[in-house]
Amino acid sequence: MAFLYKGPAQRGAIWAGHFARKMPQLPFLTWPEVGDPAQVRFLAAWEPPPRLAETLPKLEVLFSVGAGVDQFDFSALPPELAVVRMVEPGLTACMCEYVSWAVLSLHREMPLYLRQQRHGVWNEQPVRPASTRRVGVMGMGTLGRAALAQLRLLGFNCAGWNRSRHNEPGVRCYAGEAELDAFLAPTDILVCMLPLTPETRGILGRRVFDALPEGASLVNAARGGHLVQPDLLAALESGRLTAAILDVCEPEPLPQGNAFWDHPRIWLTPHIASATQAETAAEALMDNLRRHEAGLPLEGVVDRSRGY
Ligand code: GLV
Repeated sequence: MAFLYKGPAQRGAIWAGHFARKMPQLPFLTWPEVGDPAQVRFLAAWEPPPRLAETLPKLEVLFSVGAGVDQFDFSALPPELAVVRMVEPGLTACMCEYVSWAVLSLHREMPLYLRQQRHGVWNEQPVRPASTRRVGVMGMGTLGRAALAQLRLLGFNCAGWNRSRHNEPGVRCYAGEAELDAFLAPTDILVCMLPLTPETRGILGRRVFDALPEGASLVNAARGGHLVQPDLLAALESGRLTAAILDVCEPEPLPQGNAFWDHPRIWLTPHIASATQAETAAEALMDNLRRHEAGLPLEGVVDRSRGY
């Protein structure tokens, strides 16, 4: 039995060290060295090797090295293969930092004050506490729930929307298309943390923007495919939206010449909201493998019919 890693060498070296110390019974291989392919039961990768069923005939679990699994072509994966997304505290903590930074920046009108500074304008807006700002998080998975908990600690008035119903303390929870308008109508800052699936592709478009209050703003820390770019430009133009902070775009990198680059109301970051942290992820992976060995369900298993 062996564990195969296919990804950046630096993280691989750290993981190899953790596995050697804590799970010496499980050989840790680094792609393209696969040893006896029939021994490989576990693969951690962003992009799995082609023709997986032939390349690794005894593979049981494919671990994504990131939180997302939308990079996988599920139709090309053996149907019985378990697919697991990365759930680890380092990645979650970094995402909470980013969302807190973005929401605080919008709450404290930073895009406006930066524009003012560029034009030599000294003009203050009323200062209001976080409790008067309504933040709505779309997607209440591991990352969305953690971000909501952090936003609550900062004092924001929080709501969450999810495909299936969740109950989070101190968060107004909404579920499904039927409750989308009720979620959006009182949302001053909308944060997208949804998985990208055929159902959520393009969800950040006119239909959603029109249901927000006039002057709302947007944070997208999920995937560029959620956003309909021309609809965002139109919403910023009309004043429906005031500002957008985008960590993700489609395609990435965003092509030169795209209107987002120098839009005065858009802040772009190059997909750095969060990243798998090698040390904490190695420990989380090994915990998951121990669960698997003990016949317990793996944490983060993807329901292929939902796509996340
Ligand atoms: C990054 O986007 C990830 O999926 O971890």
